[in-house]
Amino acid sequence: MDEIQQYLEQHREAFENDLCDLLRIPSISADSRHRDDMRQAANWVFGQFDSMGLTVEMAETPGHPIVYAESPAVEGAPTVLVYGHYDVQPPDPLEEWTSPPFEPTKRDGNVYARGATDDKGQMLTHVKSAQAVLATAGKLPIQIKYVIEGEEEVGSENIEAFLESRRRQLACDVVVISDTSQFGPGRPAITYGLRGIAYFEVRLTGPKQDLHSGTFGGAVTNPLNAMSKMLAALVDGNGRIQIPGYYDDVVDLTEREREQFAALGFDESSFMKQVGVEAVSGEAGYTTLERRWARPTYDVHGFWGGYSGEGAKTVLPSRAGAKFSFRLVPNQDPKKIGELLEQMLRSMCPPGIKLELIDLHGAPGVLVPLDNPYMSAAAAAIERGFGTAPVFIREGGSIPIVNAFAENLGADTLLLGWGLDDDNTHSPNEKFCLADFHRGIKTSAALWDELGKLKQR
Ligand code: BES
Ligand code: MN
Ligand code: MN
Repeated sequence: MDEIQQYLEQHREAFENDLCDLLRIPSISADSRHRDDMRQAANWVFGQFDSMGLTVEMAETPGHPIVYAESPAVEGAPTVLVYGHYDVQPPDPLEEWTSPPFEPTKRDGNVYARGATDDKGQMLTHVKSAQAVLATAGKLPIQIKYVIEGEEEVGSENIEAFLESRRRQLACDVVVISDTSQFGPGRPAITYGLRGIAYFEVRLTGPKQDLHSGTFGGAVTNPLNAMSKMLAALVDGNGRIQIPGYYDDVVDLTEREREQFAALGFDESSFMKQVGVEAVSGEAGYTTLERRWARPTYDVHGFWGGYSGEGAKTVLPSRAGAKFSFRLVPNQDPKKIGELLEQMLRSMCPPGIKLELIDLHGAPGVLVPLDNPYMSAAAAAIERGFGTAPVFIREGGSIPIVNAFAENLGADTLLLGWGLDDDNTHSPNEKFCLADFHRGIKTSAALWDELGKLKQR
């Protein structure tokens, strides 16, 4: 291990330079204008594995490619599948970035760029750790299979078929993902729960073209009025979602979990300061951590229609549209939520309005078992890499593919996040703490070592 530590120390700058090279590629999966950049990022990841001497393949999909790599099997030791994503979210609003999103910039111990923490920086820790072990020990103590996809930020639609068709090739004992966060600075965490999501677009059409609101207003249903009413009716003043049947499958938090959350010492006032609000709100009867980690939500992401240019225009718009989503808790089914939603929207839709509901993507929530030797190995590795034992948390974001790993490969997932809640993921000025990048690499190398001590299942 000493030799590995020395290698890690000596290669800090090289690792950071590599990360910056990847961060320079604007691999925005949602935007078709970046198709070539997506390919370039996949090629870059491919090149990393290739130069480490792993078997590597560019697996084509109907969308963006998946990079697959594997090291040789190790007799008697477990096989680990590392999942990560090389795609990133769109960077806009651009004018709010202090330094441009695809010109990685180091400031006060962080690297700023779109994808720094989500997920290029975190994903790379598991590549660099293996590189260090291979360069020093010559071989890995376990077999590692890497699946690095390019569609996580758009719902991971194509990776499912990849998993289904390659069950034998991808067979593994445990999955490792670093795409989550620590509880706070210096408080590394293992995440055992994630929320799911059900994401929709609604389009309402009224009159065949925009109308004068004086001549026609009051007699013709305004699609924007109708939409505001419908969107507002989906939740009440207590933060309870109003779709009939929405809570049917919700598994409530256990008293023990509520106690454990409370014991973490969440600081609500610094949270409010972090996001820049003077009050928090949400479902009545739940704390902020409970609301963020383990309760369902409803959020409108954008809406359009009519006139929003300079000055006033008295228009009765022909069309209105909105994008919105629900975060789900484990055991809620996104498909079923979509059906219930559609029933409610149709029942509310006023005369003179045509309604179209588009299901953009969905993913179930996640709860992983805590009581297994892989978890213990991960906790030990974190203690070695961060110098302190992890806390066990849930988080509110979604990683669509986690349940598919359990279903197709029978493997549980270790969610080991090196990020921080104030890393500005999906927002302007995304960052990743460079010390955490290096601690992540160190932890990852320790994880291969700890897992190597376990017998194969
Ligand atoms: N890394 C996040 C997931 C995440 C966020 C986990 C916060 C824990 C805390 C991931 O890249 C992500 O953004 N997922 C999307 C999924 C969606 C596009 C299907 C999300 O949560 O919005
Ligand atoms: Mn991510
Ligand atoms: Mn993301």
